[in-house]
Amino acid sequence: MQNTNMQTLAVDLGDRSYPIYIGSDLLSNPDVYAPHIHGKQVMIVTNDVVAPIYLEDIKKALKGYRVDTVILPDGESHKDLTTLNKIFDALLEHRHNRTTTLIALGGGVVGDMTGFAAASYQRGVNFIQVPTTLLSQVDSSVGGKTGVNHPLGKNMIGAFHQPQAVIADTDTLETLPLAEMAAGMAEVIKYGLICDSDFYDWLQESVASLISGDAELLAEAIYRSCENKAKVVSQDEREGGIRAILNLGHTFGHAIEAHQGYGSWLHGEAVGAGMMMAADLSARLGVLSDGQVLKLRRLLQAAHLPVEGPKDMSCDDYISRMAVDKKVLDGTLRLVLLKQIGEAYVTSDVPSTLLLETLMACGAKAS
Ligand code: NAD
Ligand code: GLY
Repeated sequence: MQNTNMQTLAVDLGDRSYPIYIGSDLLSNPDVYAPHIHGKQVMIVTNDVVAPIYLEDIKKALKGYRVDTVILPDGESHKDLTTLNKIFDALLEHRHNRTTTLIALGGGVVGDMTGFAAASYQRGVNFIQVPTTLLSQVDSSVGGKTGVNHPLGKNMIGAFHQPQAVIADTDTLETLPLAEMAAGMAEVIKYGLICDSDFYDWLQESVASLISGDAELLAEAIYRSCENKAKVVSQDEREGGIRAILNLGHTFGHAIEAHQGYGSWLHGEAVGAGMMMAADLSARLGVLSDGQVLKLRRLLQAAHLPVEGPKDMSCDDYISRMAVDKKVLDGTLRLVLLKQIGEAYVTSDVPSTLLLETLMACGAKAS
């Protein structure tokens, strides 16, 4: 495959290994898809925001196949079982069989739903991730977590199902609104915080250019992020241990998303505020320095991300929502916290007084 604008990484998972292609001009390049489509049938799953911009481009790459399309309503509020069923309807109406390949064209919402449809349609078919947001290019398209939300909890219904390939065309970021760029930056910053302090230092210098869409720096940030994620996922595909660190800020963030109503806060915004809470709590536990907490606050602000949760959420709201987190074990809440910048750990040893202090310091009302 010849493309000088492309970098390739591998997610190393034995017979479920796959490549991540990162670069420009990939969307309509047939050569990046062909090795990963084994049958004649393809179902493109996308949404009503992305389809008008990119559907025709991707179809150019798939001329040799029988291509059908399903266009979902846009948004986190539609990441549910009702919308998922539209994918199954389309697959059955167009008589797709077990050799079909689903292609997720869009952000993390489309990617998570397409992956779950692929995991369960006829007990499992292939799929390819074609992420078109910064967040999905650095995080959700890699690692095989798929699923939908339940009104009582974020991503509560799903499956692990790895894609055949991830094709991240960085040109698609040119049409992404600023707020979505910022949301993606939350997950980029996460990698620096949990396992890559050099990357974190680089982000502190580059944040303004990244947010304003500097293509070269974005490609670098996507590569470094995917490299970090691939390393963690390759060690612990099903989150029996270290993979949990990828959820830094997510226990707080998921509580915000579920409580405010899905789509009210962007996922990345909720993760941004959640990482601030994790850092604040790490400092209260005497592990992280106040100076490091302050630096993180500045970085998140420079990335146009919130550093506090919603004003109308109380401590009780957080605690009851956090109790349904997937990391809860035998009724005990477990949180991802920071030993230092570049090193995360998972703990259940958090005094509730300190947790309440953190929540209130980060905007929660006393209950
Ligand atoms: P999203 O999928 O809702 O996309 C954000 C918005 O941008 C949407 O309106 C979308 O239609 C639009 N859009 C997409 N590409 C565009 C483009 N190129 N130009 C213009 N508009 C575009 O949100 P997201 O931030 O991509 O993903 C968030 C979701 O990902 C959440 O549901 C979250 O739970 C999930 N997630 C999953 C994992 C995982 O490991 N599976 C990891 C992180 C996040
Ligand atoms: N975004 C968390 C994970 O992939 O494990």
